[in-house]
Amino acid sequence: MSDAALSDADLLALADAVAERAYAPYSQFNVGCAILARDGHVIEGVNVENAAYPLGVCAERTALSRAIAEGYRPGDFVTAAITASPCGGCRQWLHEMGVERVVFRNRGEVVTMTPDELLPESFEL
Ligand code: THU
Repeated sequence: MSDAALSDADLLALADAVAERAYAPYSQFNVGCAILARDGHVIEGVNVENAAYPLGVCAERTALSRAIAEGYRPGDFVTAAITASPCGGCRQWLHEMGVERVVFRNRGEVVTMTPDELLPESFEL
């Protein structure tokens, strides 16, 4: 999908829609993530669980992994919209990938934060 004029609400709606494709048979907690890249493309991801629970992957990480595999690099991402508040590990990923803004739903409210705000004093090598 490509649309440079996507609003945060549009992007969150895409995250909601893609969440329906999550594979979450263990938690039944579907998560969707839609990331707007600087070139106007949107890269989507969902959580993918596994019977060996710790092997499951979050929606943010599947979206970012997919983007990297397509050739995107840290700094290429404008906004990540997520249907849930990002977990600690995903905050580290969002930070490393240089996502500018993160929009997510938390307890019924839409929240917008920067990765720095989500993860102060983040780890960097
Ligand atoms: N989950 C995500 O996909 N992203 C997050 O940032 C929070 C948690 C997923 C992982 C697991 O499949 C389910 O939500 C319940 O924890």
